[in-house]
Amino acid sequence: MSGPVVLVVGSGGREHAILDALARSPRRPQLHAAPGNPGIAGIATVHPVPAADVPGIVTLAGELEAELVVIGPEAPLANGVVDALAAAGIACFGPTAAAARLEGSKAFCKDVLAAAGVPTGAHTVVETVAAGLAAIGDRFPAVIKADGLAAGKGVVIAGDAAEARAALESFLIEHRFGTTRVVVEEYLEGEECSLFALCDGVSALPLASAQDYKRIGDGDAGPNTGGMGAYSPLGRIDAAAAASICARVHQPVLDELARRGSPFHGLLYAGLMLTADGPQVIEFNVRFGDPETQAILPRLRSDLLELMLAASVPGGLAGVSLEWDPRPAVTVVLASAGYPESGGPPVVIDGLDALPDGVHLTHAGTRREADGSVLTDGGRVLNLTALGDDLAAARTLAYAGAAAVSFPGAQMRTDIAAAAASSGHGPAGPPTGSTGSVAR
Ligand code: AMP
Ligand code: GLY
Repeated sequence: MSGPVVLVVGSGGREHAILDALARSPRRPQLHAAPGNPGIAGIATVHPVPAADVPGIVTLAGELEAELVVIGPEAPLANGVVDALAAAGIACFGPTAAAARLEGSKAFCKDVLAAAGVPTGAHTVVETVAAGLAAIGDRFPAVIKADGLAAGKGVVIAGDAAEARAALESFLIEHRFGTTRVVVEEYLEGEECSLFALCDGVSALPLASAQDYKRIGDGDAGPNTGGMGAYSPLGRIDAAAAASICARVHQPVLDELARRGSPFHGLLYAGLMLTADGPQVIEFNVRFGDPETQAILPRLRSDLLELMLAASVPGGLAGVSLEWDPRPAVTVVLASAGYPESGGPPVVIDGLDALPDGVHLTHAGTRREADGSVLTDGGRVLNLTALGDDLAAARTLAYAGAAAVSFPGAQMRTDIAAAAASSGHGPAGPPTGSTGSVAR
């Protein structure tokens, strides 16, 4: 007997990892993806509907008679795909457009955090360069963020007034990210941690902690990227610490959104700075993070399908607890030449069929040619994940996986989880005084 029809929307390594976890469900779901990628095509039926095509996704879900639609990326969430699916009577894992504003608008997010009493850096919203400079005063480094959904790609850490002016001008005069408002924020010092929680509109259930490596180069050098690797969990954020942070961060936000009539269903991702004064929120995302998901989900022993179905029902996660593989996981990203500035030219990938045992491969930016060869297709190309008895063992195996595949110009960081493997803690935060934009 075949199980429920599930449609996963998106085309990256995150969606591949979600589908891998769903494929382990004892309910044996019939898996579909839109648009998917060549890796996903090995475990799901793929449909050529772009993730951003909201009416197309609703039509496809109806044709498939999907019991659940899982939305990977933020853009369709912000554009109301969950609202449209709900209107068509189709259950979804993901928030409504109203709740998704938590990621779409930094100013909205700050307003919710303040109302919910959740710790976050002090901030001012400005609309002119002069107001921005006045808000910064002489406090450097200063954090300057473009508001709007491009915000994740528009964060500058300015080391001095000249850098601050340049950033404010590029956001507010050149409208580099199409936004007219900027958030000027207090600089937070510490170690970064991503903590995801499954949410059913009423309560938040934390997943294992993870750390993302945002810069392109070893030692956090160079520009920001969508993420060059991850590991899970952080030594100092075990299940008890994650539950305590979730109670202080995710749950009050969920309560506040419910109070505003926008209950949050789906995955609430808190980007945290673990400061000397405790965890502070850097940002919220309203979907799984990429590449943290690739490191987190292979460790999940609970049935992701059951959890996602439960999260789509108000209060459905009550009484649920999660089971994890105790072994840590490390994910290494292979990116194209030219990333993050450009996606790089399509080139043939070798070695995909000869990975060491125990390495989990997820495709992030690939395409398959008619002759069966697989080409790079975009910035981040492949993710290699391994579990190990400790972080050092997980690193060794993940990097053995990365060494087994090759394509011209491939870039990877060689220090994913290295500091944590030797100290039991994560690496220090990114350097100050540098600027950069986050590319996907
Ligand atoms: P965001 O898109 O808000 O996650 O910002 C991208 C990156 O900029 C974060 O991962 C941090 O490394 C850095 N960052 C953002 N806000 C702050 C802050 N208030 N203090 C220090 N670093 C920050
Ligand atoms: N890992 C960062 C993000 O998914 O936004």
